[in-house]
Amino acid sequence: MKVAERLAALPPYLFARIEQKIEELEEKNVDVISLGIGDPDLPTPPHIVQVLQEQVKNPENHRYPSSAGMLAFRRSVADWYQGRFQVELDPSTEVVTLIGSKEGLAHISFCYLQDGDTALIPDPGYPVYGIGAALAGAKNYLLPLKEENGFLPDLRNIPTDVSKNAKLMFLNYPNNPTGATCDQSFFEDVVEYAKSFDIIVCHDAAYSEITYNDYDAPSFLQVPGARDVGIEFHSLSKTYKYDGWVAWWRQGIEN
Ligand SMILES: Cc1ncc(COP(=O)(O)O)c(C=O)c1O
Repeated sequence: MKVAERLAALPPYLFARIEQKIEELEEKNVDVISLGIGDPDLPTPPHIVQVLQEQVKNPENHRYPSSAGMLAFRRSVADWYQGRFQVELDPSTEVVTLIGSKEGLAHISFCYLQDGDTALIPDPGYPVYGIGAALAGAKNYLLPLKEENGFLPDLRNIPTDVSKNAKLMFLNYPNNPTGATCDQSFFEDVVEYAKSFDIIVCHDAAYSEITYNDYDAPSFLQVPGARDVGIEFHSLSKTYKYDGWVAWWRQGIEN
């Protein structure tokens, strides 16, 4: 069967390729150290597991939730933002529940990009940013993350014609895969750049709670003006070690 051109144009999905290579080597009894998808190496905290065990028996939870997600959950997110970052969010209009931040990071491109637009994609970076943008018909313009720049994109180096055609920019700090962090002044530069070219900033903050020593990762939304140009994505997978639950449910259903 012929697949759609937009699918055929995609590069092979990196993590699927890594998984395949690992399987091939394991079949040959090679002891592989996986550099594929990272999983938190601690279990989900017991208080969460306990509540989930109780709530799974409640038929009210067997129904569809509201499309934007339960208001109680969105209120908790807004409370967390207030306590953690001193950012005030309206849970009814400024917080939405996803089925994993990956889902939102992929689909945001369909909301804002038209055929021929440009998306600014950090390189190296989580593959979903560029794949979502390409599926939405946009060109990827790669922003190299170089050691000499602290693994931050050099905004002054982006050609003006590229900036003028760009509609979305993806960022991710603390960064996967470089491990780099950034401070608020970098976010301030990003806000100024995004405002001058009317670009929406998608900040992937999946690792905001996984930091070392005295460093507290800032929220992009803490910076003045960021709310006019930015969307921030958080993930329960890393902060609360939830990453396997969807897979577990799926397996349970299939069995
Ligand atoms: C940088 C980054 N963003 C987002 C995600 C996806 O997280 P979620 O489980 O919320 O879809 C990952 C998962 O590995 C990631 O590394």
